[in-house]
Amino acid sequence: MHSGMRCRTYPAHLHINVDKPWRGRGIGLLLMQACLDQLRTLRVSGVHLHTTNMNQAACRLYEALGFQLLAARTTGLWSRWVGSPVENRCYGLTLTAQGPLGISMEDLRDGAAHQR
Ligand SMILES: CC(C)(COP(=O)(O)OP(=O)(O)OC[C@H]1O[C@@H](n2cnc3c(N)ncnc32)[C@H](O)[C@@H]1OP(=O)(O)O)[C@@H](O)C(=O)NCCC(=O)NCCS
Repeated sequence: MHSGMRCRTYPAHLHINVDKPWRGRGIGLLLMQACLDQLRTLRVSGVHLHTTNMNQAACRLYEALGFQLLAARTTGLWSRWVGSPVENRCYGLTLTAQGPLGISMEDLRDGAAHQR
């Protein structure tokens, strides 16, 4: 996708990093939900982010939240260190009043998500 079009449709850009000892406890998902909720409140139309195919934790998290793969390009830039070509990925999500899972941050806080 052309980068100009990407910026029009997905103007926000985000990056997430959970400190290593705290990973795998649901914090990444909560942080993403909080960020997406905030963007919706601000009426931002969409968000994009970058990762690689090597980062399966991140890819799974983004895909579970409804992010679509917008572009992928293989590079040999890091082959020397990781032993194989790496696929740079750009994911995007268009934002509506409610998330693709139909779960808002308020639902999560109220515990309503668990009752669905
Ligand atoms: C990617 C990252 C933010 C995930 O945060 P987290 O708090 O560990 O994630 P959660 O515990 O909320 O898990 C949410 C989902 O992420 C995915 N996930 C998390 N850890 C995973 C792992 N080790 N392997 C595969 N999928 C994983 C899963 O889809 C998971 O849902 P599930 O448990 O129902 O399968 C975290 O691993 C991280 O900070 N990594 C280092 C920095 C980084 O790579 N940032 C992204 C740069 S693009």
